Amino acid sequence: MAFLKQLSLQINYVFKSLFFLQYIPHAFFYSLKRDRLHRQYLTDSSVNPVTQPGKLLQAKTIDRGAYFYFEQAELEISFLTPDLVRVNWSTDLLPIPYAVVDRNWETVETTLSEMGNDWAIASDALSVTVGVDGSLKFCDRAGQILRTELPPQRQGEKWIHQSQLRSEERIYGLGERASSLNLRAAKDELQKPKIYQMWNRDPGGRYNPGTDPIYICIPVYLGLHDEGSYLIFYENSFRAELTFADMAIANFAGGSLRYYITIGEPSQLSDRYTQLTGRAPLPPRWALGYHQSRWGYRTEANVRQEVKAFQTYNLPLSAVHLDIDCQVEHRAFTIDPKRFPKIDSFTQELAETGVRLIAINNPGIKFSRRSNLFLEGQVLNGFCTYPTGELAIASVWAGPMAFPDFTNPKVRAWWSRQYAYLLDVGIAGFWHDMNEPAAFVSWGDPSLPQVAQHCLEGRGGDHREAHNVYGLLEAQAAYESIRQYRPQQRPFIVSRSGWAGLQRYAWTWTGDTISTWEALRQTVATVVGLGISGISYSGPDIGGFQGNPSAELYLRWFQMATFLMFCRTHSSTSVAPRTPWTYGEPYLSIVRSFLQLRYRLMPYFYTLAWETTQKGYPPVRPLFWGNPSDRSLWDVEDAFYLGDALLVCPIVEEGKRSRTLYLPKGDWYNFWNDSTIKGGKTIELDSPLEQIPLLVKAGSILPMEDSKQLILHLYPPMKKAEEREIDSSLCAFAPNTALRLRLMRDQNSYTLYTDAGDGYGESRCDRFYFIQHEDSLELVWEQQGNYGFPYQSVQLHVHGVSLQQAWVDDRETALQGQQLQCHLFKTVRFRCD
Ligand code: GLC
Repeated sequence: MAFLKQLSLQINYVFKSLFFLQYIPHAFFYSLKRDRLHRQYLTDSSVNPVTQPGKLLQAKTIDRGAYFYFEQAELEISFLTPDLVRVNWSTDLLPIPYAVVDRNWETVETTLSEMGNDWAIASDALSVTVGVDGSLKFCDRAGQILRTELPPQRQGEKWIHQSQLRSEERIYGLGERASSLNLRAAKDELQKPKIYQMWNRDPGGRYNPGTDPIYICIPVYLGLHDEGSYLIFYENSFRAELTFADMAIANFAGGSLRYYITIGEPSQLSDRYTQLTGRAPLPPRWALGYHQSRWGYRTEANVRQEVKAFQTYNLPLSAVHLDIDCQVEHRAFTIDPKRFPKIDSFTQELAETGVRLIAINNPGIKFSRRSNLFLEGQVLNGFCTYPTGELAIASVWAGPMAFPDFTNPKVRAWWSRQYAYLLDVGIAGFWHDMNEPAAFVSWGDPSLPQVAQHCLEGRGGDHREAHNVYGLLEAQAAYESIRQYRPQQRPFIVSRSGWAGLQRYAWTWTGDTISTWEALRQTVATVVGLGISGISYSGPDIGGFQGNPSAELYLRWFQMATFLMFCRTHSSTSVAPRTPWTYGEPYLSIVRSFLQLRYRLMPYFYTLAWETTQKGYPPVRPLFWGNPSDRSLWDVEDAFYLGDALLVCPIVEEGKRSRTLYLPKGDWYNFWNDSTIKGGKTIELDSPLEQIPLLVKAGSILPMEDSKQLILHLYPPMKKAEEREIDSSLCAFAPNTALRLRLMRDQNSYTLYTDAGDGYGESRCDRFYFIQHEDSLELVWEQQGNYGFPYQSVQLHVHGVSLQQAWVDDRETALQGQQLQCHLFKTVRFRCD
């Protein structure tokens, strides 16, 4: 049996490989042509002399900042907020604001002062010293130097920008990277500091840890050192290279040197960066559930059978993704009516069981006069061309394709309209793939030639500038389309590629990873790095895209992904079908228990999604998030926070049944058995196959739901006796409840966000506060908002202390062990041991 299964897999593999052969001739000629065009049209900036700003001659104040005149350059420094500054070294080619959102920043008071040969422009939170040679120094209110920059250099169209790194400094971000979390730690094959490329790239159906670049490159990074942390975002979409040795060096092939710097703790940096580039809107609640996908669901019957199996195995499911095999010859915006004959009733049938259908779409349009989309795009003059005016044609799945120029607003509007009929037939969301844009090549860069021409909002330019924003603008077109055609429902888009600001429109996934333990480990750093780069929603193909994971690898991958915002199994057409039941028992039951836990945690996930809309915090966070000054946390890349309450420690090695972790300072509960652990040291945690270590921060309130019941898990702070006395005396000193609450609430409070789960109607925030007394615990509830409380009952579950008696709004109520059943209340008081 096993032999037959293996044989059928091999035959399938050979068959699929033959399928890829058809692309070889066109890919070969395309690669030749691309290189010829590059030789013909690309100029080499490095033949030009290197220039620097020269001497600082004069400075003058302007609204929000100051203007500096150098011998050979001009510099504008503007404060958008007291701790966020925009630095603009003059050029004629200003960036098109694809990344930054248009907002009215409040007025900021600044002071310009002369300091010998240097000048300083400062707000009350940040000061920038401008050296006589054009070097810049960024200091916080206390005068600590957070970043020191050398004078920028210009060589032809190129910019070279260097800053001095402190020896202990760590660097995080740059979008989506298959690298160490601290980007500075990674080395290339020659053990030299790794050079990170800014050029979105399809690594060709598979990638390993270390592959660079991949699909989403964003020139934003967070620097963390002993004096504090800062974030820099270069508003420049041109091809670039960044490297972090003694110096951070950023080399941009063109564009302007305009960048933003903000300082503060990591949470403040996320807040500011997403004020600048926008925040992820609230997704529909179902999108936080489990998604099943496979390159290989060819027919309606295939999908129906899969959904049925989820029901049979009692596995919750929220969405199924249709890959290119649902299309007619892999063409954009098609669903094959032969294989999906009743798509509108089918989407309805699935929706009744709580399952949504997501359809894939690739940006290329079949280069054929028999394609209406191609004819329309041509009439619009909407495709990318070579400098000769000829259409840029490259092969993707459907064969030779023309590429819509999303930098043209008319093209975006035309593209937006194409989603309408799929929305009409009930498709719930869209999966944008191959939008780096990817092209099949025999060698070299798998994309459009750098000299391909773009509209760039009418000002014109080439692919060197438009390439990195291509996927972002496709996502914008789709988002606007869904908002317009289906205004009552929130858009759901998942995009493989993108740039700064992608979070405003789409989620992403980590692409074509291979099915190895190293790739599983890599997922943590990649997802956390994306979050630092503003992209809150991401997750991997569970089990890896390319390869057949062992049962254990799939399970461990699943356990980790349970706690990521995007939770989807997906795999390549050339590997064995993969579902939660593929591996039989005990794996199926364990996966089921994790899936059920995820659905129980839905109020927590959803509230994190809401928090992202308010503050831009990534729900999945690095361990240094709340303790940036603890150096031991700077390099932890195999564990993460989900919100403030949960610390997730995936198992990323085969056969491991325990693991170590440097636990952040504070007190922690083991989620699985309520044992308590002190942080600030390295600990060993059990991880039998049925579990991965999961810790809850003491002082947290963790909301869960079970059908119509809200369950609040209370994890009281573990205070030392003397601290408790101080709290009690504070309460005695302030007997007035309002004042007592104010004293305590910030420390141990939780806000639960609820609404209808989709649409743009009413919402509510339920704030819960703990007050801990000597021998009792009080929980106070404050309600805000007009959305009705959606649960029929509330259960309070107290961990860590033993409950003796309980009063709900002063009426004694019976306890069931550590639990209390109730409904709406103002205050619950527990007497505990
Ligand atoms: C790309 C995608 C992958 C998809 C495949 C076929 O490789 O990354 O997820 O299954 O194309 O559409």
